[in-house]
Amino acid sequence: MTGNRQAPTGTPKAIPGGGTPEGMVLDESHRYFTGIAYPRRYYQELNPASIAYAALQCGYQAPRLDRPFRYLDLGCGHGYSPLLFASLFPQGHFMGVDFNPVHVTSAEGLRQAAGLDNASFSAASFQDLATDERGPSGDCDFIVMHGIMSWVSETVRREIGAVIRRRLKPGGIVYASYNCQPGWAGKMPIRALMVDAYAVTTGTVEERVNKVRAFLRQMADTGALYFDANPAIKQQLEAIESLDAGYVAHEYLNEYWRVFYHKEMATFMGGHGAGFIGSGTHADNVPLLAVPEKPRALMAAMPTSLLREGVRDMALNRQFRRDIYANGLAPLSLDALLTVHRGTRYALARRRADCAMVVPRSFGDVALHEGFFAPLLDRLAAGPAMFDELAALAPLNEWAVADQVQALQVLVGADYVRAIVDGAGVAADSPTVRRFNQAALAAALADDQPDVALAAPALSGALRVHLDDTADLPVDLPGATFSA
Ligand SMILES: C[S@@+](CC[C@H](N)C(=O)[O-])C[C@H]1O[C@@H](n2cnc3c(N)ncnc32)[C@H](O)[C@@H]1O
Repeated sequence: MTGNRQAPTGTPKAIPGGGTPEGMVLDESHRYFTGIAYPRRYYQELNPASIAYAALQCGYQAPRLDRPFRYLDLGCGHGYSPLLFASLFPQGHFMGVDFNPVHVTSAEGLRQAAGLDNASFSAASFQDLATDERGPSGDCDFIVMHGIMSWVSETVRREIGAVIRRRLKPGGIVYASYNCQPGWAGKMPIRALMVDAYAVTTGTVEERVNKVRAFLRQMADTGALYFDANPAIKQQLEAIESLDAGYVAHEYLNEYWRVFYHKEMATFMGGHGAGFIGSGTHADNVPLLAVPEKPRALMAAMPTSLLREGVRDMALNRQFRRDIYANGLAPLSLDALLTVHRGTRYALARRRADCAMVVPRSFGDVALHEGFFAPLLDRLAAGPAMFDELAALAPLNEWAVADQVQALQVLVGADYVRAIVDGAGVAADSPTVRRFNQAALAAALADDQPDVALAAPALSGALRVHLDDTADLPVDLPGATFSA
């Protein structure tokens, strides 16, 4: 499609993506930004199918997705991710909680437009949930929090802990992302300065954020030695300048803002009954893609997961983590692990021509062996396949099963391929997916957002589409009609 974007005919009413209301800026009791909406975004790692595969990579089986399950998103924002999942997993029930009524109204609007009755949203605080004595308990298979833990007070984190303790089922999984050390070590002063600069600005939140950005640029242009001593700040500043004002406000300007060491988060979660099992980012669980060779060897020699993760974070100078924790899950035996791998479906998540044999990593590119990986990609270009069919392809058919699993994990880690544990998901012509995609596309067009994540049954997940480039998509997106 080129230019001239039009909403597909007959699509439901568009949902506004945000806005910049003037007036109250911080929620009074929690000192959290409510004066500007967080942008509506999709996060792949929140997909229960993505979490299930990450757990499998780490040797665990997440709650099954081909049976009824319950999923709670704490601080769900516009609820875009849980709604997309609700369209793909009719057997799941997706609950979103957020105390910002603008966000919940937007989520509810998209839910109604998509006609999804397996999702529900409530405008409530974590405190409301934690103190709701008569509310449900032990009902959640998944509890996810994206962009929450580093941006709330100690008290609110305790409330979150209480919710996890009460609502997470035995065997249930928690996903939490947060800002971490050591990546923030040299960058924290820039955030401190932003907060002080924001305090003396006037205007709408957006205007004030823009004034803070201009001030930072002015500061950098004075030749301040801090910028020379911390070269990464230049990039950080460019990112701050290019981001949506709502994102900048929520990311940098909340009153509470804490950077964690992994050990602190693991200790917090452990105290609420959820033990660390690994990373929710698939590439982190694939040695070739995760860390350079030397620290990889050091990591492998570490006696505890705390030390292994400490080495990893230092090796990558990591500033953001996506962890998964589980309530009392035991690792699978080798036999059980193989059974779950064999029940896993794989699907190509980008055009075959876009699967380059050189994969970028934060610490340098890596070249893939064409002879090993091309046959897998060529087969998947013809449609999804189960593990056994892929393992039977030459040259994989000569390999040990652990190496076959590794080869597929590399393609998943590179995000060329998605893996769907238990083969769970909806039929290709699912009406829920069709309605979600129509509503999501209408909302994106109304907001003039050319990048949109749409539900793809073959992936049991989303495909990100740029509305100006919709030819030869690798999978079907029911309900998504793109006008030329
Ligand atoms: C950075 S946004 C992330 C939104 C969403 N998870 C996403 O990734 O798109 C944080 C969200 O948490 C909500 N939030 C913060 N503190 C909260 C609290 N104490 N109770 C309920 N929601 C809260 C905010 O309103 C905001 O929508």
